[in-house]
Amino acid sequence: MKILLTGGAGYIGSHTIIELDKAGHSVVVVDNLVNSNPESLRRVAKIIGKEIPFYEVDVRDKEALSKVFDENKFDAVIHFAGLKAVGESVAKPLEYYHNNMTGTFVLLDVMRQNQCKNIIFSSSATVYGDPAIIPITEDCPKGHCTNPYGQTKSMLEEVLMDVQKADPEWNVVLLRYFNPIGAHKSGMIGENPNGIPNNLMPYITQTAVGIRKELGIFGNDYDTPDGTGVRDYIHVCDLASGHVAALKAINNKCGLAIYNLGTGHGYSVLDVVNAFMKVNGVNVPYVIKPRRPGDIATCYCNPAKAKAELDWEAKYGIDEMCRDSWNWQKNNPNGYGK
Ligand code: NAD
Ligand code: UFG
Repeated sequence: MKILLTGGAGYIGSHTIIELDKAGHSVVVVDNLVNSNPESLRRVAKIIGKEIPFYEVDVRDKEALSKVFDENKFDAVIHFAGLKAVGESVAKPLEYYHNNMTGTFVLLDVMRQNQCKNIIFSSSATVYGDPAIIPITEDCPKGHCTNPYGQTKSMLEEVLMDVQKADPEWNVVLLRYFNPIGAHKSGMIGENPNGIPNNLMPYITQTAVGIRKELGIFGNDYDTPDGTGVRDYIHVCDLASGHVAALKAINNKCGLAIYNLGTGHGYSVLDVVNAFMKVNGVNVPYVIKPRRPGDIATCYCNPAKAKAELDWEAKYGIDEMCRDSWNWQKNNPNGYGK
């Protein structure tokens, strides 16, 4: 299949190109580079041994996006493009709503005009809010999102469901990602956050490499086995292969399909820090800090539906995730920059 990846230069998109290529699909990338560096695509090209057609386009720019569709006939779109920093979304709600909502509206409109009605959407475990059921199944009711970023994911799920309901020719796959970490085993591509990382693993790797003095652990008084927050960390290459599997649902004319992409295992912050130090033989100094507003105690999924319907399951464990995150960071202390 010929697939358009919006936001394909980013962390998850760049890893997904490799898995799509391995499975024999061809890929075109659209990205405005607001949170990525074209070096990621150059490195992916080296890994797969072929150039990746790339358009530096903002998905909100209807004219430019239409031109991409004029020049290519796509079988499906994987829509990664979006802003994703939770804290920043609280400070800049309008920018987040405009980018994520308008970007998706324009994309859907252009897709419809071009008779391309197959889309895989990057959603998030954040739509479950403080989950009513653990492990979380897809029929767990959606919860209250405490920030504009999460709201955009939750609202866009509704928009996509309405579009599919109104026109059953659409096939819509909502993938609810849990916590992607890790990097491609080559160490050539990985997560490249701007400024101070918000997420746990980049903070750990930057501390280990000496860019940050110490990791702050946000709370050790949660109702979890060691008091620190528990999450379902998933290797980004497993997450990437989940998108290849999701194309099966599209091929089977799924209409609407929703899948959790996680491992089904919950690890605490201390579990991750300890695994990282042990596997890599490096020290990560840390201090306990107050809870971070909006955080929940525990979030991990039941991934059985994706296994049953897509024949997909995560194959990497926490040790491999820690090893590959460190391999990327130590080989690229400044990410893609300089
Ligand atoms: P990322 O920031 O690395 O990638 C997103 C890409 O989209 C970037 O390359 C950015 O430049 C591009 N982009 C943003 N707005 C755009 C626009 N208007 N037009 C064109 N390109 C635009 O993030 P990621 O971690 O790879 O996440 C990919 C998707 O998965 C996002 O939608 C994100 O919200 C979602 N997601 C990520 C996580 C996570 O923890 N990383 C978890 C759940 C869901
Ligand atoms: N944490 C720390 N110190 C840090 C960073 C994080 O202790 O410096 C803790 C958090 O309190 C939490 C855990 O590590 O217990 C994971 O935090 P992350 O920020 O890495 O991830 P979240 O689970 O908060 O959220 C992430 C993305 C969301 C996404 C969600 C589910 O940021 O966008 O995963 O996919 F919605």
